[in-house]
Amino acid sequence: METLITIKDLNVAYQEKPALWHVNMSIPVNSRTAIVGPNGAGKSTLIKSIMTLIKPISGKIDIDGKDARHALKRIAYVPQKGEVNWDFPATVLDVVLMGRYVHKGWFKRTNRQDADIALSALKTMKMETFRNRQISELSGGQRQRVFLARAIAQDADIYIMDEPLQGIDITTEKLIIDVMKSLQQEGKTFIVVHHQLDTVEEYFDYAVILNKTVIAEGSVEAIWNESNIKQAYYETSGAHE
Ligand SMILES: Nc1ncnc2c1ncn2[C@@H]1O[C@H](COP(=O)(O)OP(=O)(O)O)[C@@H](O)[C@H]1O
Ligand SMILES: [Mg+2]
Repeated sequence: METLITIKDLNVAYQEKPALWHVNMSIPVNSRTAIVGPNGAGKSTLIKSIMTLIKPISGKIDIDGKDARHALKRIAYVPQKGEVNWDFPATVLDVVLMGRYVHKGWFKRTNRQDADIALSALKTMKMETFRNRQISELSGGQRQRVFLARAIAQDADIYIMDEPLQGIDITTEKLIIDVMKSLQQEGKTFIVVHHQLDTVEEYFDYAVILNKTVIAEGSVEAIWNESNIKQAYYETSGAHE
C-alpha cells in the first residue's frame, strides 16, 4: 500500500500535560482508515495535528512527502459534533457552498457552477429538498449529512472526520458509510475517528488503535483483535489517570 500521510515522533501537550507521545504511524492512500481508542486517547488531537490546527512540541507530519500545511486545500474536515455552533443563521445550501470557498478565496462570490456542485453534493446525501431550510432546524443526522455534503462540494481528496456517526440515526449512518465506500472507489482517502468497536471491520479497511501513543496500526484484518483492543482500552497508562 502506498503511503499518504506519515507521522514521525509526534509529541503534543496541553499546558504541559501530554496528550500524544512518540506517535509514529502512516496512513495509506485510498484507504478507509479508522482512528480508534478510549475517551481522552488523543484521537481529536491527532487529527487536529494533521490539519495543522495544533502546534506540537515536536514531530513531523508529511502528506505525499511534503509538510502537511502544503496539502490543506486537499483536505475536507468534518469536526466533532460539540465543536460546531449551530445557532448561526445559514441555510443548508449556504453551509454546503462554504465548501466552494476553498477554491475561490473568501472574497469572491459563488456562481452558478458552484451552486450546481453544492446541489449535486446535497443530492448525494439525500438532502436536496432541505436546501432552503435553516441549519439550526435540522436533526443531528441531517446536520451530519449537510456537513458531509459540504466536504463533497469542496472536492477534496482527503476526508478527515471526527466521530461522524456519533448521535445520528441508523439510516444516516448507513448512507455515510455507502458514500464513503463509493468515494473510495473514486480514489479518495478517509480518516475517521470511530467510537463503535463492533462496526470497525464492516466499515474500515485500515485502523490505528490509539491511547496517547500508537497501540497497533495496520490493515483491519491484521490488527483488529482482542489483545490490541484490550491493551488500548484497559491496560495502558492513559486508562489509569
Ligand atoms: N484544548 C485543550 N486544552 C487542554 N486539554 C485538552 C484540550 N483538548 C484536549 N485536551 C485533553 O487532551 C487529552 C486528549 O483529548 P482528545 O484529543 O480530545 O481525546 P479524544 O478525542 O480521543 O477523546 C484529554 O485528556 C483532553 O482532556
Ligand atoms: Mg475526540
